[in-house]
Amino acid sequence: MTTDVIAIDGPAASGKSTVAAGLAERLRIPYINTGSMYRAITLAAMRRGVSAANCTEAALAPVLERLQLDYVRNDAGHFVLRMDGHETDAALRSAEVAALVSPVAALPNVRAWLRERQRALAAAGRLVMEGRDIGTEIFPDARFKFFLTATPEERARRRPAQSGENFDGATLESVAAAIAERDRIDSTRTVAPLRPAADAVLVDSTGLEVDEVVNLLARKVME
Ligand code: CDP
Repeated sequence: MTTDVIAIDGPAASGKSTVAAGLAERLRIPYINTGSMYRAITLAAMRRGVSAANCTEAALAPVLERLQLDYVRNDAGHFVLRMDGHETDAALRSAEVAALVSPVAALPNVRAWLRERQRALAAAGRLVMEGRDIGTEIFPDARFKFFLTATPEERARRRPAQSGENFDGATLESVAAAIAERDRIDSTRTVAPLRPAADAVLVDSTGLEVDEVVNLLARKVME
């Protein structure tokens, strides 16, 4: 049996979110950004005093116990993330959250908590889900799997241009270093590390416009 999910995975700032949203719009199906869920947990943890110095499963357990995180469908049929009943905001894209999200996402209890919720979302029908482990862990039987990459230089250039990103005073070098550190932690963690599924279609988006990548994926899906 295959799950009717289009899985898009890849490293930080590889253009996944833009492409995933574009593909979902093209196919007129909903889109779920799982990175936002990890960022929301990270923000909730920071508000409860968790930092790089005490980022452990024990510190996250009470955060997960109290946190209410839902993707709910709005009138337009889009899924919007709600954190404790409120729509999430630009705080999820801050440099502070970005610096702590990979250590938080490496914790097994955090991943188990989200795995269950992410799998439940597919019950709503066909959708595009984007992250790091959608094709490997969450939906190993997804109907379509894409792994999006781009050179580190291109990814560092794209990042500050992304909507809502908050990189006051950051240089290209510091952005590149932050991205590289996140990728290092994401691909070397024990649970569900970032890697392409054996049956994923690899797409290098370096030098391509968003539309060109969306077209490429849409063609594969409609073939
Ligand atoms: O937008 P960007 O590519 O920078 O990252 P994101 O998709 O917002 O994900 C933020 C972080 O959440 C990643 O660096 C991972 O540590 C974590 N993440 C994960 O572990 N598994 C996922 N399925 C999605 C995100």
